[in-house]
Formats: sequence, structure tokens, C-alpha cells
Amino acid sequence: MDKNFDLVVIGAGPGGYVCAIRAAQLGLKTACVESRKTLGGTCLNVGCIPSKSLLNASEMYHKAKKEFSSLGIESDNIKLNLSKMMNNKNKSVLTLTKGVEFLFKKNKITHLKGKGEVSSKNTVVVTDDSGKKTKYTAKNIVISTGSVPTSLPGIKIDEKTIVSSTGALSFDQPPKELIVIGGGYIGLELSSVWKRLGTNVTVIEFLDHILPGMDKDISSEFLKILNKQGINFKLNSKVIEVKAIKDKAVVDFTNNKTNKRERIECDKVLVAVGRKSNIEKNILDLGIKVDKQKKIEVNKKFETSIKNIYAIGDVINKGPMLAHKAEDEGIAVAEIIAGQAGHVNYEVIPAVIYTNPEVATVGKNEEQLKKENIKYRIGKFPFLANSRAKVNNETEGFVKIIAEEKTDKVLGVSIISALAGTMIAELAVAMEFGASSEDIARTCHAHPTHSEGVKEAAMAVDKRPIHF
Ligand code: NAI
Repeated sequence: MDKNFDLVVIGAGPGGYVCAIRAAQLGLKTACVESRKTLGGTCLNVGCIPSKSLLNASEMYHKAKKEFSSLGIESDNIKLNLSKMMNNKNKSVLTLTKGVEFLFKKNKITHLKGKGEVSSKNTVVVTDDSGKKTKYTAKNIVISTGSVPTSLPGIKIDEKTIVSSTGALSFDQPPKELIVIGGGYIGLELSSVWKRLGTNVTVIEFLDHILPGMDKDISSEFLKILNKQGINFKLNSKVIEVKAIKDKAVVDFTNNKTNKRERIECDKVLVAVGRKSNIEKNILDLGIKVDKQKKIEVNKKFETSIKNIYAIGDVINKGPMLAHKAEDEGIAVAEIIAGQAGHVNYEVIPAVIYTNPEVATVGKNEEQLKKENIKYRIGKFPFLANSRAKVNNETEGFVKIIAEEKTDKVLGVSIISALAGTMIAELAVAMEFGASSEDIARTCHAHPTHSEGVKEAAMAVDKRPIHF
């Protein structure tokens, strides 16, 4: 096999595999190294995709049990078959990872199996399962090795009793009592899954609110919604110690205000306190610059401190750790390497939490605008006043649009709604085109749809919503 490439991409997650495909489309002779057995990275194998499969299935189960009868659908004897639910999840993951394999073949990308390490400016060494090392040369290298879960000092994740998201996606039965440390994306999505499947869930969060970084209106409303769903919260609480004792665990934590110490016994503990960049020692040895959090420093063109070595995705010091951000960077860096003008607009990256209702945001939130001294107007519209949401029993949540006071330019949007994750795309497009709230208000939206809530919120910026 020819061992010389125009581009070697290290890591086949959403950043890396998309970068490899775009580079191949642009005529670059491309290889992609991956150490997992299957392509797709954390997202496809143990992240976005399996969690969405379980979120979908658990929601159906919950609805069949709790909501169908009120719609006139009598369904006695609804039973959970968790191993079947897990098989369905595994099948979806396999189909999608195979799909990436197919795309590699279609685009004539060389799939290098093993662990890839940059050994010099233009060489990558791949170590396969048997320990055999092979050296490849590359005119350009893209590092897209993603991120790994972090833990807390003294807490050892064993993926049995004390688990990361990986373990929490594969319990063989719903735990009776689950403690979730961290009220962020992972904590809240997986709390929802297991709560719906019958687990008693308590989330312990260090801050006095959930979803740090999101609009405060959203995080306080969402907390109320999750509380109503029966998820318990211990806010303002610092976990001190987690111990696994046989098949159980005890979690000790103190209240940040009162210093009162509490202990909860449980069957499983999910540690969801964030992720850290996944970099090997050789990156530092080579002299590639990283920041304090060990994230690779890149410039606008995704170049690291070494020429011809680029980095994208969770491993870099730019933007949120989100799959779609990595994908866009993958496309941009491939285009830059091919001599085009690749670009990512970090001002317009949507973020979605796939609970029910979903939470979605794009652009800036109110707190950020206050800090930046930018004057704004707000338009809010509750789904209680949206006809489609009403007939679907999906009246929780609202749309909040923030527009610049002087120009009316949309600066940020937050949505809580059953369909928020899909609806936010309209706002991302609008913001990319520099839309004003009036532009959205004067755009015809189909009736009856949840999206009319967006139009009404845009009209509310000018204090003229029709249905509220
Ligand atoms: P996160 O950063 O979203 O949330 C971590 C939470 O843990 C924060 O609320 C933080 O205040 C809390 N925390 C930290 N230390 C603590 C302590 N000692 N005691 C109690 N609470 C503590 O991180 P998460 O949920 O682990 O997700 C990791 C990454 O994965 C995120 O960057 C997210 O972007 C990504 N992700 C995205 C998803 C999506 O797009 N839907 C789904 C899952 C993950």
C-alpha cells in the first residue's frame, strides 16, 4: 500500500471523518486513522447517537404508560424489555458506523486501523492491535482526537457502579436509585432516560442553577419542568466523596451555603462533570502549543503552532464541545488545506439538549449581552398559546428572541419546546443572514405548527404578538 498522503486525519469522529470526506471530495489523497473498531468517534459509538436512541425509546415507553390512555388509546400491560431496547440502540449505532465506512469507500479514503501518533511535522505512526507500527507520510495532518470524560478528585470511574456516560448508556436494568453528578447536557439527558424507565434520580449540581452558560430564564424554567417530571435536584452542592461498596455506592456532599453535609446511598453514580481534550504526550513533546486546559491552540485557519499540522473539534481551544461544531470545522479545514476559504461562524452555533421538552439555543444569552453592555429588546412567546402545541399536549416552554435595541438584529434565541432542537435551525439560518426580528415576524409560518411560536416571539419583540 502507498504510504504517502496529501492529508492524514487522526480520529474518525464527526470532526475527523467529515474532514476526510470533504478533503477527498476536493481531490486530496486522504487517510483517516481510528483506534476504535468502528468509525464515528464518541458521538456515534458512545455519545450523541446511542443516547438519542435511548431518549427516543424511553420517551415512547413513558408516553405509552402515562399518556396514551388520556388520548383514548387503551394499552394494558405495557412492559419494559430493556435488553431489547439496548439491542435496538446497538443496531442503530452499528448501522450508522457502517454508513461512515461506506462513505470512506465511496470517497476512496484509506482507513488506517490503529492508534495514530504524530511523530514529526510530516509523519504519522499507526500502531495496530497487535502492536505493529507503520509509518505514513503526510503533506498535512489534522488532529481530531476529541475528548474524554473528566472525573472529580478521588473518584474512580469503574463503569459498573460509578460510571461515565458510556456506562450509563448500557445498564442491564434500571437502577433503583441513580445519583447524577453534574446538571449539564449529559447529566440531564441521561437523568431523563432512567427516570422514564423507573429509576429514582437525584442530580447533584455545584452551581445554584442547571445548564451553566445557558440563558437564566431557560435554566430556571427547565429546572421547574424537570422537577415536575420527578427528577430530584440538590443544587449548590459539592460532592466530597463517592465510594463503591459491593454493588452499591454512597455519595457524600456538602451544601455550598450552609456547609451541611449529606449522604445518599444509591445503586449507580453517573459522573457528568464535563469532558477534557484527548491529547497524547507526544503532542506536547513535539512542541504543539496547548492552553491551560490542555486544549490545542489554533489560529483562524485551524493551524497549530507547527506548520501543516492542523487541529479541530473538542481537542481545540475554540467553541463548544459539540459534534456539529466539529463537523463544520472539519469541512472548513479541508477547504483551507485545498486552497479554498473555509470558515466557521462561532457566533451562530446552535446547542440542543434532547430531553422532553427539548432545550435549544443559538447566539448570545441575556447575561452575556448585559456583560457586554449591549442594549437589547426581548420577545417571548409561551407554547401555552400555540395551537399545535396545545392539541399535542406540549404546552411547556417558550421561545425567547433577543434583538439589538437599535438595529433589531437578532442576537440570540432560546427555546424550550418538544421540537426545540429542530426549530432552532430556522433561527440559525436567520442569524447567518443577519436577520432582524421583523424579518422573522414578516415571514409566513405554516399553521398549525410549533414554529408559529418563533414568529410570535419575533412579533413580541415589537410588543405585538397576536395570540398572547
Ligand atoms: P457540562 O459541562 O455540560 O456540565 C457539567 C456540569 O457539572 C456543570 O453543570 C458543572 O457545574 C457541574 N459540576 C462540575 N463539577 C461539579 C461538582 N464537583 N459537583 C457537582 N457538579 C459539578 O458537561 P457534561 O454534561 O459532562 O457534557 C460534556 C460535554 O459533552 C459538554 O461539553 C457537551 O457540550 C457535550 N454533550 C453535548 C450533548 C448535546 O449536544 N446534546 C449531549 C451530551 C454531551
